[in-house]
Amino acid sequence: MSKTAIITGANKGIGLAVAKDLIAKNYQVILACRDTAKGKMAEEFLGSNAVFLELDLSKPSSINQFVNQINSDYSEIDVLYNNAGLIYRDFELTEEGYESMIAVNYFGSFRLALMLLENLHRSSGRIVQVTSLSMYLARTFNISGLHSKDSFSPSSRYNFTNLLRSMFAIELENKLKKTSISVSAAHPGVTKSRQSRPYEVKKIKKSFYTYFSTNINTGIAPIIRAIEDESITADLVYAPKLIGIYGEPTLMRHNKLVYNQELRDKLWSYTANELNLNI
Ligand SMILES: NC(=O)c1ccc[n+]([C@@H]2O[C@H](COP(=O)([O-])OP(=O)(O)OC[C@H]3O[C@@H](n4cnc5c(N)ncnc54)[C@H](OP(=O)(O)O)[C@@H]3O)[C@@H](O)[C@H]2O)c1
Repeated sequence: MSKTAIITGANKGIGLAVAKDLIAKNYQVILACRDTAKGKMAEEFLGSNAVFLELDLSKPSSINQFVNQINSDYSEIDVLYNNAGLIYRDFELTEEGYESMIAVNYFGSFRLALMLLENLHRSSGRIVQVTSLSMYLARTFNISGLHSKDSFSPSSRYNFTNLLRSMFAIELENKLKKTSISVSAAHPGVTKSRQSRPYEVKKIKKSFYTYFSTNINTGIAPIIRAIEDESITADLVYAPKLIGIYGEPTLMRHNKLVYNQELRDKLWSYTANELNLNI
């Protein structure tokens, strides 16, 4: 029987390329995207094993609606790949008043995963959390004033959300130890994610990263391993072997802050309290 996977932000980039790979392996893939036109374009591009469902991770009402739809249409979800994210965004608040990178990259994953646990449990499913090399650039853990513009910078905030993504993966795994659900984490290195798009990108602004970023296949390989390798845990992160950018996937340690239980407890209770959601 074919497996079913949900991929958030699957209309382009890494999410779309992972969807294509899983479909080639006979998965049915739910493309959870915020923009209907882009989601439908990806659905058409990927063929009959892809289904688009609207999901905007910055809006709790959209997450609720998505989860209700999933629970009514699918009794067993085998994989949830938390991929969607905002990269280096300027300061912006969501409707709820949360800073947008925290809201999408971290709160969105937390909400969606916790709301889908019953469904994932039925299939002994797996939650795969994307993170980034940039987590290693986060030097301190500070969750006060996260939604204020004071001392906000797009790059340090993006780095920090990736630290939180890694901490979330490990803590979620701890909390789910007595269940049949497994958790893993992966990062794609630095990848030319636009290579997967089903539409042409006319003007591509060359950035610093353009010079050493890898092709999309190198980037998605660690993610695929995190989906398929049944022996791994979220304690280590799948990443390209050479300096976390080039080569085959291998298992690496996260930023050392991620292994601090006291900080993870602090983060978990802060998040559970903010989102009014817990296990
Ligand atoms: N590329 C890299 O080198 C790299 C490295 C490390 C980690 N990552 C992580 O990998 C993930 C994918 O990266 P990428 O390079 O493929 O990025 P991308 O091309 O910018 O794709 C991001 C995806 O997330 C979606 N998204 C943004 N906000 C959303 C929301 N509120 N609700 C639902 N979906 C939303 C986007 O939808 P729209 O098209 O509608 O904006 C898009 O589909 C990101 O989380 C990123 O942090 C990437």
